[in-house]
Amino acid sequence: MPHIAPFVTEVDFASGELSMADYVIQRRLSDMASMYADEAAARRIMAEEGDRLIYEVQGVELPAEEGQIPHCTTRITPGRIGDEYHMTKGHYHARREQGEVYFGLSGRGCLVMQTESGETSVQEMVAGSAAYVPPFWAHRTINLGEEDFVFFSIWEARAGHDYGAIERDGFRVLVVMRDGQPAMVDNPKYG
Ligand code: PA5
Ligand code: NI
Repeated sequence: MPHIAPFVTEVDFASGELSMADYVIQRRLSDMASMYADEAAARRIMAEEGDRLIYEVQGVELPAEEGQIPHCTTRITPGRIGDEYHMTKGHYHARREQGEVYFGLSGRGCLVMQTESGETSVQEMVAGSAAYVPPFWAHRTINLGEEDFVFFSIWEARAGHDYGAIERDGFRVLVVMRDGQPAMVDNPKYG
């Protein structure tokens, strides 16, 4: 049942665990192998080590109504697929005019954003960073560290998640490891 009365949920900054979590979503490599530039590396990892956990989302259930403010944590595990860091699928909001706020809880990473009209933005995030995703910007988070990257998200209930465009076209920019450091490169598969 969605919560309709006031409540407080305790957040564990290191794990993203919510004391009142109503749902936990796990995304494994098999859920998003084709989203990585090096899909062959993804297939190899799955064959050799099994279906790796890439990220986990924990949230409390609220009514999907105007004015409700859903919030959740995301924990992205450390690692790379080929030379591309572990990341979320990423999405536009179904209602493009809805924005979102992310707050870094632990670890480090970046937030890659883009608009349908061709703008791109990459913002670093650490514990304590409050990152703003404006209306109309697709967003994906990436773990650039050697520990879990954990953050808190807050959005408007009717924003919705539209994964289709990103599943089809990807993001324009990829974040990959070059000489041990994160680097941005153009996505050869974009569009
Ligand atoms: O609402 C958001 O943007 C986040 O809570 C994301 O849903 C979460 O980080 C998981 O990413 P994605 O929805 O792209 O799988
Ligand atoms: Ni979102």
